[in-house]
Amino acid sequence: MEQIILKTPAARSDIYVGCPWKTVHKLLPRSGVAIITDDNVMRLYGDRFPPFPVFSVTPGEGSKQISVVEQLAGKLLDTGIDRSGMILAIGGGVVSDITGFLAAVYMRGIRFGSISTTLLSQVDASVGGKNGVNLGNVKNMIGTIRQPEFVICAPSMVVSLPEDEYLSGLAELIKTAIIGDSELFDTIVQDTDGIAERNETLLSAIIARAVRFKASVVAEDEHETGLRRILNFGHTLGHAIELTQKIKHGFAVASGMELATWFSFAKGFISEEEKGMITGILRHFRLTGTAMPCEDEMRRMISHDKKKAGSSINFVFLEGIGRATVMATGIDEIMEFYRNIHNSI
Ligand SMILES: NC(=O)c1ccc[n+]([C@@H]2O[C@H](COP(=O)([O-])OP(=O)(O)OC[C@H]3O[C@@H](n4cnc5c(N)ncnc54)[C@H](O)[C@@H]3O)[C@@H](O)[C@H]2O)c1
Repeated sequence: MEQIILKTPAARSDIYVGCPWKTVHKLLPRSGVAIITDDNVMRLYGDRFPPFPVFSVTPGEGSKQISVVEQLAGKLLDTGIDRSGMILAIGGGVVSDITGFLAAVYMRGIRFGSISTTLLSQVDASVGGKNGVNLGNVKNMIGTIRQPEFVICAPSMVVSLPEDEYLSGLAELIKTAIIGDSELFDTIVQDTDGIAERNETLLSAIIARAVRFKASVVAEDEHETGLRRILNFGHTLGHAIELTQKIKHGFAVASGMELATWFSFAKGFISEEEKGMITGILRHFRLTGTAMPCEDEMRRMISHDKKKAGSSINFVFLEGIGRATVMATGIDEIMEFYRNIHNSI
């Protein structure tokens, strides 16, 4: 078991990787707790939840709505959860995004912790304090940044994930390695079989490395004014692919990472060998190869990017495996690169 402490100027979050999730009771008060989960997690693990009231939402992105948060707040109130209470999220990124937001606004803020049950939420969504809901089709438009008191990342629960959900999370894990941890990248490349088989010991070790990296970035730049932007590697073009091709986040980010890698190579920032290694690992797990939006669609999508400032975007490039940098890049330059690639595939 590994404990990683994320400290920001205002808060501290304790992240436990690989401890049995049922030990969560040690981190909870004796009373005044409510659990929020989704129907799939409830069906698989609900019989082993701590003995507190459970409110379960419909699985999937459709639950990331302000109306769902409002309904849950009503249920907390009916159950008698007051300012001294605590909410425990048990689920993936959707559950932790909703619950973190609810905890931040209910009675102007109550205690919050989570058991993270998907690979994607363990390496990304549950760590770093971002939470929120969507506004119509626009993702994460309403939310806050507020650190959970604790997060338990439970690799033992990843075993029950459907294959596409597992691979989607794997893409974010590979992203962490590419932008910040070349040793983690080597471990992934050297043990692709263990990863495909979801070996629990291996998963605990690599999830802990990924969490340690994300925690270090968030500790330095909680509000994403600088360094934290590197976590968006692959996301500028990836979001456009996700929305136009309607594929899972991780697969879209993987295609976005491949394009950003090629762009970094085209600008002379990385070698052909590095480009080949990154493309190779993404293809090994069949994370890339999706259809790409046409040029007009891509321009329209990236013009609405949240990372846009005027006619430029803070685009994340690589300077090597394990080293990323952010550069304001003109939309026209990005589109020129995309046109060349799009015409050649
Ligand atoms: N806050 C952040 O920093 C951040 C970062 C990245 C992504 N996100 C958000 O996270 C969300 C995606 O998270 P996700 O991929 O975890 O999706 P998810 O929460 O929808 O979970 C994916 C599916 O797996 C099921 N599931 C969860 N745990 C399971 C388990 N152990 N076994 C079997 N099935 C299980 C869920 O019911 C769901 O159907 C998106 O809304 C995204 O915007 C947030």
